[in-house]
Amino acid sequence: MRFASKVALITGSSRGIGRALAITLGREGATVVVHYKQNHEAAQRTVEDVRAAGGQAWSFAADLEDVAAIEHLFAAVRERQGHLDAFVSNAAATAFKPALEFKPHHLERTFNMNVRAFVLGVQHAAALMGPGGRILAVSSYGSVRGFPTYANLGASKAALEAWVRYFAEELGPRDINVNAINAGVVETDSADFFYGQKGMAPVEAVLRRVPKRRAATPEEVARPAAFLLSDDASYITGTVLMVDGGLTAAGPPYRVDCPDA
Ligand SMILES: NC(=O)c1ccc[n+]([C@@H]2O[C@H](COP(=O)([O-])OP(=O)(O)OC[C@H]3O[C@@H](n4cnc5c(N)ncnc54)[C@H](OP(=O)(O)O)[C@@H]3O)[C@@H](O)[C@H]2O)c1
Repeated sequence: MRFASKVALITGSSRGIGRALAITLGREGATVVVHYKQNHEAAQRTVEDVRAAGGQAWSFAADLEDVAAIEHLFAAVRERQGHLDAFVSNAAATAFKPALEFKPHHLERTFNMNVRAFVLGVQHAAALMGPGGRILAVSSYGSVRGFPTYANLGASKAALEAWVRYFAEELGPRDINVNAINAGVVETDSADFFYGQKGMAPVEAVLRRVPKRRAATPEEVARPAAFLLSDDASYITGTVLMVDGGLTAAGPPYRVDCPDA
C-alpha cells in the first residue's frame, strides 16, 4: 500500500497508459483524479476500476490546449482534495505529417498540448505539494530517434524531457522529485492510430527489430511509473527512465536482418 492516503492527478487517464497507472496506484490505496478530454464513459470506467482495485477516484474533463481549462482542473483538485502528492503528465496529442508539411497551427497546438500544459501543470501542482511530492512526465522514444511523421510530437517530447531536468533542479530543495518515463511501442489506441496511417510501416516490422520482439502492455509502463512515484524512488530526480524493451539500445545492423543470426 505505497500510496495509501496519497492523492494523484493523472492526465489522460481515461485510456491507455494513464488508465493502467490509475488502476495500479488505486490498488495500492491512492485517491486518483482521472483526467480526460471528452471520453466521459471511458473516464467513468477508469474511476470504477480504480475503486474496484481498492482506491478512490473521481474524474474531471479539461482540454489541456486551453489555459483556462488547466486552471479549472487544478482548482477542482484544490477544492476537493486540498493538496496533491503526485502529478503525472501523461496525455498527449498531435497530427502526424512529414516534417516539411507542418503549418504554424500544428506546431502551436502540439507544443501547447504537450509542453505548455506540462509547464503550467507543474506550476499548479507544485503549489499543492509538500515534501515528498512527485511529478512524472510520459515521453516517447521519438524524443531521441527520428522516424516518419513524428517530428512535431518527438520534438515536443524532447522539450518535455528538458523541462523535467529544469524542474528537478528547481524543486529538488523542496524534496519534490521530477522524472520522466520514455516509452517504446505500447499497446494502446494511439499506437493503433499511428500504425494505421496510410503508408506507415506495419507494426510487426518494427517489433521484429525491438530486442524484446513485442510491444509493451500499458501495465508494463504503469509499474515502473508507480515505482518513480513511490517512496522507493526518494533519491531519483531529473532522470528519464527508458521503458522500451531495448528499442533505443539497439541499432543497425539489426540482428533480425543478419542472415545467420
Ligand atoms: N501508445 C504508445 O505506443 C506510446 C509510446 C510512447 C509514448 N507514449 C506516450 O504515452 C502517453 C499516453 O499515451 P496513450 O497511448 O496511453 O494514450 P491514449 O490511449 O491515446 O489516450 C490519450 C489520452 O489523452 C487524452 N487527451 C487527448 N487529447 C487531449 C487534450 N487535448 N486535452 C486533454 N486530454 C487529452 C485522452 O482523453 P479522451 O479519452 O477524453 O480522448 C486520453 O485520456 C502519451 O504521452 C504518449 O505520447 C505512448
